[in-house]
Order: sequence, then C-alpha cells, then structure tokens
Amino acid sequence: MRDAQPNAIYLKDYQPPAYLIDETHLDFQLAEEQTVVEARLKLRRNPAAEPADVLELDGAELELLEIEIDGTPLDEGAYTLTDEHLHLLSPPEEFELRCVTRIAPQDNTSLEGLYKSRTMFCTQCEAEGFRKITYYLDRPDVMSVFTVRVEADSERYPVLLSNGNLVDSKATETGRHWTLWNDPFPKPAYLFALVAGELEKVSDTFTTTSGRDVALHIFVEAKDLDKCDHAMRSLKHSMRWDEEVYGREYDLDVFNIVAVDDFNMGAMENKSLNIFNTSCVLAHPDTTTDQAFQRVEAVVAHEYFHNWSGNRVTCRDWFQLSLKEGFTVFRDAEFSADMGSRAVKRVEDATVLRSIQFAEDAGPMSHPVRPDSYIEISNFYTVTIYEKGAEVVRMIHTLLGPADFRRGSDLYFERHDGQAVTCEDFVAAMEDASGRDLSQFRRWYSQAGTPELAVSDNWDEATGTYTLTVSQHCPPTPGQPEKEPFHIPLKMGLLGDAGSLRLQIEGEAADTESEDNTSRVLEVTEASQQFAFSGLPERPVPSLLRAFSAPVKLHYPYTREQLAFIMSRDSDGFSRWDASQQLAIQVIGDAQSGAVDPLLIDAFGSLLQDDSLDPAMVAETLRMPSENYLADLAETVDVEAIHRGRQAVRTAIGKGLNEALLQRYRALASDASYQPDSAQVAARSLRNSCLAYLAQAGEAGVELAMAQYHEAANMTDRQAALATVVNCGNEAQRTELLEDFYQAWQHESLVVNQWFQVQAMCPQPGNLERVRALMEHPAFSLRNPNKVRALVGAFCSANPINFHRADGAGYQLLVDVVTELNATNPQIASRLLTPLTRWRRYGERREQMRAALEAIAALPSLSKDVYEVVTKSLTD
Ligand code: TRP
Ligand code: ZN
Repeated sequence: MRDAQPNAIYLKDYQPPAYLIDETHLDFQLAEEQTVVEARLKLRRNPAAEPADVLELDGAELELLEIEIDGTPLDEGAYTLTDEHLHLLSPPEEFELRCVTRIAPQDNTSLEGLYKSRTMFCTQCEAEGFRKITYYLDRPDVMSVFTVRVEADSERYPVLLSNGNLVDSKATETGRHWTLWNDPFPKPAYLFALVAGELEKVSDTFTTTSGRDVALHIFVEAKDLDKCDHAMRSLKHSMRWDEEVYGREYDLDVFNIVAVDDFNMGAMENKSLNIFNTSCVLAHPDTTTDQAFQRVEAVVAHEYFHNWSGNRVTCRDWFQLSLKEGFTVFRDAEFSADMGSRAVKRVEDATVLRSIQFAEDAGPMSHPVRPDSYIEISNFYTVTIYEKGAEVVRMIHTLLGPADFRRGSDLYFERHDGQAVTCEDFVAAMEDASGRDLSQFRRWYSQAGTPELAVSDNWDEATGTYTLTVSQHCPPTPGQPEKEPFHIPLKMGLLGDAGSLRLQIEGEAADTESEDNTSRVLEVTEASQQFAFSGLPERPVPSLLRAFSAPVKLHYPYTREQLAFIMSRDSDGFSRWDASQQLAIQVIGDAQSGAVDPLLIDAFGSLLQDDSLDPAMVAETLRMPSENYLADLAETVDVEAIHRGRQAVRTAIGKGLNEALLQRYRALASDASYQPDSAQVAARSLRNSCLAYLAQAGEAGVELAMAQYHEAANMTDRQAALATVVNCGNEAQRTELLEDFYQAWQHESLVVNQWFQVQAMCPQPGNLERVRALMEHPAFSLRNPNKVRALVGAFCSANPINFHRADGAGYQLLVDVVTELNATNPQIASRLLTPLTRWRRYGERREQMRAALEAIAALPSLSKDVYEVVTKSLTD
C-alpha cells in the first residue's frame, strides 16, 4: 500500500545494475513471533555501469535491526530508508554489506516473500518477493552464488530446505536445529527458496545420460504421501525428454519438489527446490480428475524445463518474461503432445488462445509479448506472455523446421549459459543457427493485438488455377494505433472430391521430394498477398490455418456444407475440429432466434458413430465453443442470447442424437483399473460428454448421471456425474449428491475445491445466492487462493449468465471480494478483476460494470496491482 500514485516502469529506461553481488550469505532464524534474517552480501561496482554515488537497494516491509559495511556499523548519515528502498551513500568500490532485518512471515497474507502456509514456512520470490526478505538488488540481471543457513525448532520444523546442495546440518542444545545449503550456480534472487516444516517425502533417483545420479524428492504433508507417484513419474519423463529432444541434462545431485496449499500460481521453478501448489502436484485416482492428472504432468514438466529455459539462461529484466515463459510453455506443450495426443493438445491450446488470450489482446490490458511498460509486474504473468509467447516460439519452429530450430536452441543455451538475456538474444540465436532472416518476424514481440487474416479465392476453370488472396490487419491496441504487417506462417491444404490435392505453387518447380506435398506453410508477410496453385483437377475447398499455425483470427466465407466436408475429409485433425467449431458458431447464431440446423446434428451424429476416430477428438468436437469465446466473437455481447442459443443447440443435440449418445455412452463403459493414460482419458472424456448431452435432453439422462455418480470408481467419472446433476437435475437430486460428496470428501481440501467449483459454475437461476452462501461455509477461506479461484474465480469467469445478472448482484459480489483481497492478497485481487475489464463490449450491462470498476478505483488504499488494472480499464 502506498500514498503516491504508482509509476510506470519502461523498457526503454533499462540500465545495467550499478553493483554486482558475487556472493550472498543468508542466515534465517525462524520463529513463531518473528523471523530474523542476517544477510552478508559481497558487492562490487559493475564495470559495465555508469558510476553513481548512491547505491539503491530494494526492500519492502522490513525492519532494519543492524547495518554494517566491512564489519563497521553505519552511521545514520551513511544511508537513508524509505518504504521501498535502502540508499547507501558513497559506498566503496567493493565491500561486504551486512544487514539484519526482522520480518513477520506469520502475518504475510500476500503469499509473496517468506510466509506461512498451514504449519510450514515457504517462500515465493518471483517476481519481486525477495525484497520482502532482505535489502537487495532484486532484479533478474544480478546473479549471485547463494549460501543459506536455516535454523528453526526441531520438532515443529524437522525439514529445513534451501537451494543447491546440503553442506552441513546440526542440532543445537536449545531444541533447535539448522541446515546449511550452497547453490553453486549463480542465480537471481527470484529463484531463491526456503522451506521449513513437518514434511514427509517420496524419493526416487534418475541417472542422466552422462551418468550423474540425481536424488529426486517430493515433500508433502504425511496425509498426502499416497498422492505423489504421478508427479514423480512425470518428473522422470520430463528429465528424459529434455535430454532426448533438447540435449539438456540436469546439473545438480538433488532435485526437490515441495507441495504447499497456499500459493498464488501453479508452481515455481526455484533452482533445485521447486515449490508447487498442492493442486499441481498431488494426484490420486480417488481424488483427482483426468484433467488434473494432466495438469500435474504439464506443470511438473514446465517447472523442470525452466532449469535450462529460465534458470541456466535467465531474463535480463521483467520485460523479457516471455523469454523464459513462452519458451518453457512451448517446451511443456511439446512434451505433453509427445506423452499423449498431439492433435488433442493442439485443440486445447488453441481453445485457450481463442477464448482467453484473444480477449486479453482486445481489451484494456492488451500488451505485446515483450511489453514496453508496466506498473506492477505481477499483472504481466498473463496468457499473452505465456500462451501467445509459446505460439511465437512455435511459429519460429514452424518456419525453421525441427532441425534448424534445435540448432538454434543449442546455440542459445551454449552462447548464453549463466547469463541474463533478452528475447532479442533468443531470436538472434535462431537466426544465426539457421541462416534465416527473422527481422520482420520480430514484430510478434513488439506489436500487441490479434492479427486478422481475410482470405478470398478465385478459380480459373480453363487453366485449373486456384488463387488465394490473403490480407492481414491488426486492430489498434492501447498505445499502438497502427501496426506493420506480421510474418505469419499459414499452414494449408486444398481438398477435392478425392481428398487432399497435390499442391503446386505457380512458378515453383514441381515438388517430387517431400513426403507430403498436400500440405504446406505459406509465408504471409505483406498487407495483401496472392498465392496461385496450378494444375488442379477441380475447384478445391481450402483448408486453412492447419494445426493452428499462427495465433490469428482467420476469415474465409465457408458455407456450412464446406465446413461439414472439411469435418469429414480433412487430413489435419485440428482443421477437422476447427471446422466443427465454425459450423457450431453459425448454428448457435441462428438458434438464438430460431431453429437448430440439422446439418450440425447430422455431422455430430456421424462422428459419434464412427469408431475409427480418436474418441478424445470426438469429445473435443462435441464440446460447443464456450460462452466466453462466443462473447469475444460478438460485436456487442448479449450474454442471455449467447447462453440461450448455446443451450438450445445442446438440447437439440441431446434429443436429436439420443439413441446414438446412449449407445456410445454404454459402449464406452469400462471396468479396467484406472490409468491416466491417453486411451482411458479419451474414453472417459467422450463418455462423460455423452452423459452431459443426455442429461440436457431430459430426466432419463439425469437418472443415468445419478447412477454413474453412485457407481463411479474414480473421481473423473464421479465429478462429471456430479456436475451433470448439479447443472441439469432437480433440487432434490442436486442436494442429495452435493451433500453426499461433501460428507465423503470434506477432509480432502482439493476435492472440496472441486465441490465449490461445480456449484460456482452452475448456470441455473439463483446461483449467485448459493455462491454467497458458500462463501460463509466453514471450508471456504478468502486467504487460500485455490478456494478463491474455485468459488469466486469460477463464478465470475466461467458462469457468465449468473455473473452478468441484470440486477448487477454478480458485479457487487466481485467488488466485495476484491475490496477485501486488495488489502490481503493484491495479486489474486487483480486477477479476479479480469471479467470486469471487458465492460465496454457489454451493451446493456456496460454502465453497471463500469460503476463496479469505479467503486474499486475509489477504495482508500489501492494496491499497485489493482490500481493498474482498474485505471487501465477505465481510461480510454
Ligand atoms: N515462474 C512461475 C512459472 O510460471 C510463475 C510463478 C509462480 C509466479 N509463482 C508466482 C509469478 C507468483 C508471479 C507470482 O512457472
Ligand atoms: Zn514458468
């Protein structure tokens, strides 16, 4: 909290640090009432920086007890203190700074810095949390070797961990004990971690290609020991995969993961001491859904991959965040694709882009993959930095091909090992290794907004030539009224009656070499460009943006018949799915006022009855585009019309395909013992979407769901049945299952979160009152981010019909929650606000939404996080 208006920080103002910190020695005295931290820093003037006579160190919420330079206590006149900084006046060229600070982790509700989660101490330092531990140069380009001593009560905190190798440990005579850790790899402060608690561990080992034995440990509370196998297996798969696909080996003798219940994000890649949200590490068939199993695998991989893309090579400044996050998300996505189904993973990722990132790109918080400025960096851990950033790396992969991309990544890691670098360095390594010119491609890093491609075509029957005209345009975003053309890889094919046609670009030599000459990547670089294909036997149907080759919106005036044709004939799984989505969007559009086009029902009917198709893809296809995505496509959002149209189509499918759905539902039943493998996950996913459609069609389907709930042998089937009954059942049925579920799982915090979430997402009228009531439930707490996300987050972002209630009560609920969290946990407060930031597009509701934002803007002491989001949302 502060008094003055917060300032924006600009990339163009970047200056190298005035000093470097070669060594960092920390000593923690952990206790219930206070924690005392002694820091001894070996500082030296940075030869690359302009000399200055004041050294500014970052520090927040610290009580300074002692300060010395080279063993001599500092006079009052030798330094100044503010709420955010310690200024050393005329410091020597080279010196040791010793600071003793007192902090109160037991009162730290922001979950940033050192804090307590249940009974354990833990840390979260990214992005700028280390300054809440001691005075420091808290920026990623200051890399230091850390030696850390942790002392605490032996009984309450038998496990004491930090980064790197355990050097020494000892019990004291006063019932306390300590451990001493050294991390040989210089690292920025954001990768520092400490954990102290009563923890049990699951252990395993991994032998790297070069023969290093690595001890792997997952630390959890004793009650969760049976939920670690999946994370451990995922970790070993990740370690092997990074060796095989990127040639990257692990570099220390130990790798630790710790699970904590109170955590702002998914997990954190601290060097050799990853800290995980329990929701991203614990998994057991009885308590965890397939989706959550997959998330555990992906997040374990993501954090592990950061050891190279993030830790060995880190970011120069926070504007470069996507350097590590975009690249690491690309790496974990490829890993997941290799572990499961590539096409399904691509569909899931495209869905996130379209329903969440495109909306961010079109809203007031829109920013480039490499932002130019920020007020609070925590607000920039966004889908743009992560998911669009990953798409930018993927486009480089597509343009270079796998071999040159690998050469580029090898060069990047070799050239910059141990350095803090920029997105530019990444692109330059890719260019140098491949010989490709990526100068125009760099605009993907600097220009915000979602490019739109308009495609038109022309068929010359006489010559058999088909011409595509591709025009690109990117709408204005804050601070960027005009955009230059992007370099866009557009993967495509042409379909004829006989299937995929051979592609011959006019003027190019005939392609006789490539295995697949029916698919290719067009490089769109101009505002408008033509591509002519010759020698075609018939007028083709174009299959465009195969595999979602670029994060763009593509417009081509497909007829419904053409979409149904692509759905049944395209060789690209993503394109088949995409055609089904476009068809569904059209059909939902007219269902808002009239009948449901039987074409869609027939198309879905054929998919449902075709046993040769991957059931996971069939399930993805049957899933209607989300209300959020439909809202993003609309000029002005009419929440009710979208909900009504989508529900009408779902009901029509449930009724029209009742027999086929029931048949498939029955055929997919299985009594095999639970495995989270792709075949089983696919079968459950399709079976449960059949169930949801059947329940949408009427009482018989709800009865089926009731039965499935009671018979389920795993949480995936049980939770799907519960959600179906909550959404479609009557009051008695819902109450019966909700009570039963709570009784059975009340002692499993993560399962209780599912119980909150299922209720938060129920579209039935009066749901807001239920959510209000659940906020008073003894199992709910505003202090635990997982609980807030499950109940309030899910309600506001995934239940549009109730959140946007006409009387504004949904907005008021969000205002109330944000008001409280602004004071206790600003990161979570500002994230929750996202649905309100879209107010301008909400026709009838916009004034109420604006008023809600204004109510928040008027709060007496706004955190930087919330301040940035509300002011950017309210200014035009
Ligand atoms: N680097 C983490 C990741 O993506 C992100 C993260 C974890 C984070 N905890 C955080 C970011 C808290 C901001 C605040 O893997
Ligand atoms: Zn990350």
